[in-house]
Amino acid sequence: MKLWTRLVPQQNVPLAPRTTWSIGGCASWFAEPGTAEELQILLQDAACGGMPVRILGGGSNLLINDGILPGLVIHLPPSSAFDQLTLSDTGLHAGAACSLARAVRASVDAGLAGLQMLAGIPGTIGGAVWMNAGTAGEWIGSCVSRVKGFSLEGEKIDMPKGSWTPQYRSGGLPPMIVTDVFLTMPRADAAELQRQATTALKQKKATQPLGAKTAGCVFKNPENDSAGRLIDEAGLKGFEEGGVRISPVHANFMENTGNATAAQVNALIGKVQETVRAKVKIDLKPEVVFWR
Ligand code: EPU
Repeated sequence: MKLWTRLVPQQNVPLAPRTTWSIGGCASWFAEPGTAEELQILLQDAACGGMPVRILGGGSNLLINDGILPGLVIHLPPSSAFDQLTLSDTGLHAGAACSLARAVRASVDAGLAGLQMLAGIPGTIGGAVWMNAGTAGEWIGSCVSRVKGFSLEGEKIDMPKGSWTPQYRSGGLPPMIVTDVFLTMPRADAAELQRQATTALKQKKATQPLGAKTAGCVFKNPENDSAGRLIDEAGLKGFEEGGVRISPVHANFMENTGNATAAQVNALIGKVQETVRAKVKIDLKPEVVFWR
C-alpha cells in the first residue's frame, strides 16, 4: 500500500540549519504543509503507516541527534496560512509559525500587556506555548486562553483555558501539533510596555551570548537557585571540549564554536551534571528537548 496518499514529503533533509545550535543530522522524511488540510493529510498518512511524527518549530531549544532521524518531521512554514497574526482589544490570535518576536513587538505597540518581558526570546509562538517560554519569573502560558491544532493522528483539537496546565518551561499540552494560539491580554500604556521590553532585551544582551550558536539555557533552574550560577561556581565557565564551549558569558549556555556534534553536546551535558552533583548534590535537569 502507498504510504503517502496526496503529498510526498522530502527525504533526507538536513536539520542542523534549522536549529539555532546548528547541530544534528537529517530527517528521514520532512514536510512543510501550507494549509491545515495538507497538515491533516500528512498526519493521517503517517499514522496509517505507523510512522513517528515530530514537530519542528523555530529549533531554538532543541538538540537533534547526529545521523538519520527516523520518521516524519513537520515544519509549519513562515509566510503560510500558519503565520498570521491578528490583534484585538483583548488580545491576539496567532498562527503557530508566527515568530514570537513579531507577536511581542505587535502586542507591545498595540498596548497589550503580557509578552513585553519575552523580548529577545527566539523561536515561534507555537513553540513558545509548547515549551511555556519565558524569563525566570514570567512565561507565556499565563496569558494563553485557547490552543487549537491536531493530534498526531490528525484529529482536530480545540483546547479552552483550564484544560491544560502550563508549568515552568513546560507547556503541559497533550501530544499534538499546535496550529493556533489565542492570548488574552489586558490593556496597558504602550510606551511603558516598550520601556519594559527594551530593558528586558538590554539585560539579555548584557548577560547572555546572543550572537553565538546556542539553544538558550541548557538546564532548568533548580527551585530558588540558578543553574548558570551553579555551573559557574563549579569552575566550568568557558570550559571547551570538541567544538562545544560552556559560554564564558553565561554558564548555562553551550556554544557551538565550530562543527560540534550532538554526541559532543551530550557528553558535555553529562560532565556538567556530574560536576555539579559532586560539588553541591543538585541534579540539573535539561531544559532543551532531545530528538534521538
Ligand atoms: N550567574 C552567575 N554566572 C553565570 C550566569 C549567571 O553567577 O554564568 C548568576 C547571575 O549573576 C545571577 C543569577 O546567576 O545572580 C541568575 O542569572 P540570570 O539573571 O542570568 O538568570 P538565569 O536564572 O540564569 C533565567 C532564565 C533565562 C532568562 C533569564 C532572564 C532559566 C533556566 N533561565 O536565567 O531563560 O532569559 O532568567 O529572565 O530559567 C532560557 O530558558 O533559555 C533562558 C535563557
